[in-house]
Amino acid sequence: MNLEAYKSIGVLDSGVGGLTVVRELHRWIPHENIVYFGDTYRMPYGSRPQEEVRRFALEIIDFLQTQEIKMVVVACNSAAAAGLDYYREKLNIPVVGVIEPGARAALKATRNERIGVIGTEGTVGSGAYEKAISRMEPGVEVYSRACPLLVLIVENNLVYSPESYRVTEEYLKPLKEQGVDTIIMGCTHYPLMQDLIQEVMGENVTLISSAEETAREAKEILVSSSLMNPLNSSHSRHRFFVSGKPFSFEEIGKKLLGSEIKAYQVVLS
Ligand code: DGL
Repeated sequence: MNLEAYKSIGVLDSGVGGLTVVRELHRWIPHENIVYFGDTYRMPYGSRPQEEVRRFALEIIDFLQTQEIKMVVVACNSAAAAGLDYYREKLNIPVVGVIEPGARAALKATRNERIGVIGTEGTVGSGAYEKAISRMEPGVEVYSRACPLLVLIVENNLVYSPESYRVTEEYLKPLKEQGVDTIIMGCTHYPLMQDLIQEVMGENVTLISSAEETAREAKEILVSSSLMNPLNSSHSRHRFFVSGKPFSFEEIGKKLLGSEIKAYQVVLS
């Protein structure tokens, strides 16, 4: 019997956005226990230097490792873009990031081989999606656009405002002009405004949620490494930790996950 399989999945994000990945993990692998850390005190990561984001992510991973984990899911695009290979080198458990699964799904979806990527300044500046796509299938055109204000729109509950429509339209205009038929929502927050992005881009454009693809990949890795939790209990246990005050995280978490959650504040470093 593989005792490792009873351990939890560690999920990290800069804040609440990674709960979109938790929601998908729960859908794809409902029997798995999750330990989540949202670095709400130090978010946003998207505008910080890569070296700093890597350091923050490693601090979180160190904390998660004190919680008996068998896998790390880097749910934050900015943290994944800053150094997935770097985290992998330092850990002896599987590390799943949001970049590769999103890139793979976009390649499956595109018909005209023109893919758009939207994300934070850090993610877009790193070129991580372009690199992943060209590694998997050279020759596909990728057009990227940093959309820093979209995180603020989601965080401030402004998705359904006229300003938000205008800002999104402005950001997506160049991608529309390039004729992309697929867009990777390369930021944890964007699935929370998916309807708006779809409306702006039109129904012929396929939107890829890196959250869903990541959950699928996590499941595949658990299966292939015999790490699926053997307890077929409907009462999986999730624990949530944040570096800032828990209240607003709990509020958003309840809306997103559909049930009350309790988060505990942990001060890192
Ligand atoms: N979690 C970040 C990401 O997916 C978005 C928020 C931030 O900038 O920290 O890129």
